[in-house]
Amino acid sequence: MTRVVVMGSGSALPTRVVSNAELAQTVDTDDAWIVERTGIRQRHIAGEGETTGTLGADAARRAMDAAGVDPDTIGLIVLATATPDQTFPSTASWVQHELGCKNAFAFDVAAVCSGFLFALGTAEAMLKTGMAKRALVIGSETFTRIVDWDDRTTCVLFGDGAGAFVLETQEIAASEAQTAPGIICTRLHTDGEHGSLLYVDGGPSTTGTVGKLRMKGREVFRHAVVNLADVLTQVLDEAGMEGAQLDWVVPHQANARILDATARKLSLPADKVIRTVDIHANTSAASVPLAYDVAVRDGRIKKGDLVMLEAMGGGFTWGASLLRV
Ligand code: ACO
Repeated sequence: MTRVVVMGSGSALPTRVVSNAELAQTVDTDDAWIVERTGIRQRHIAGEGETTGTLGADAARRAMDAAGVDPDTIGLIVLATATPDQTFPSTASWVQHELGCKNAFAFDVAAVCSGFLFALGTAEAMLKTGMAKRALVIGSETFTRIVDWDDRTTCVLFGDGAGAFVLETQEIAASEAQTAPGIICTRLHTDGEHGSLLYVDGGPSTTGTVGKLRMKGREVFRHAVVNLADVLTQVLDEAGMEGAQLDWVVPHQANARILDATARKLSLPADKVIRTVDIHANTSAASVPLAYDVAVRDGRIKKGDLVMLEAMGGGFTWGASLLRV
């Protein structure tokens, strides 16, 4: 059987770091409120010359370095973002040229904070059908450019950044399904009924503007906890595994309290949940690969580990992916 393996990861962050205290100089908020409600202490904010494309390309370069592969061996690029550089061409097309991946077909996917999980699932399916042998999957965002800096209930929550995986197909025996490296099971969901709880109030075909992010945070929180618990149970059941077998969970980094709830649901100690929300805030589609890459590079996530990736975002969209490193 064909297995899609993560060969390497990379990430990139804008240079400028903004602490809660610095934010409180221009927004009616304070460090204690933000830390208590969200766990966020700082975020990176993109400056001049830093875009979704440049951050995504930097993360992808590092992922290719980690995997030891050359750009011209990449056959597919899927880039997840809700903050593309332009309406079109896709940011993935810009990244393809920037990196010199001349043999890759490239496109963006939009599933907001779940975008990386949707991009990963898309790339995995395309690799398994033989449309390409090696892929780059990128989550990249400049969310601070679509937040309303006059709305303290949302602007304190977000940051900018990018993360990337190199994926490749490998053949394994069916008897190795649980032990061989690679993606074991991915499940994705959408429920458009709740689109109005988390959205951007503009777009090319409606207002002709880019728009700003709007969120009913408390209701999003409630749905996030329920939906994530459901999909985590679904993926574990389908893989024939239990939460206690996981070495790590790499969740979308929206709120420390959601991360704690996820750990309880899986009966895992909190230190098995990779947490970067304190230093990166919510970077939407970038947060899962960014957190994964941080944990690989600091030596926590190691070869052979069983890792659950999960995310929930606007749409609503949500999903989880179980993989062996
Ligand atoms: N600083 C200080 N006070 C604030 C701030 C702020 N930045 N923002 C809101 N407040 C005040 C409010 O005005 C309100 O005051 P009041 O009681 O006098 O009216 C009080 O704090 C409580 O506001 P709530 O919105 O009820 O606060 P809550 O406890 O729900 O926390 C939060 C808000 C952090 C947004 C929380 O609801 C949350 O994390 N929700 C989930 C959001 C999320 O995870 N989104 C991402 C998932 S999808 C994606 O990533 C795009």
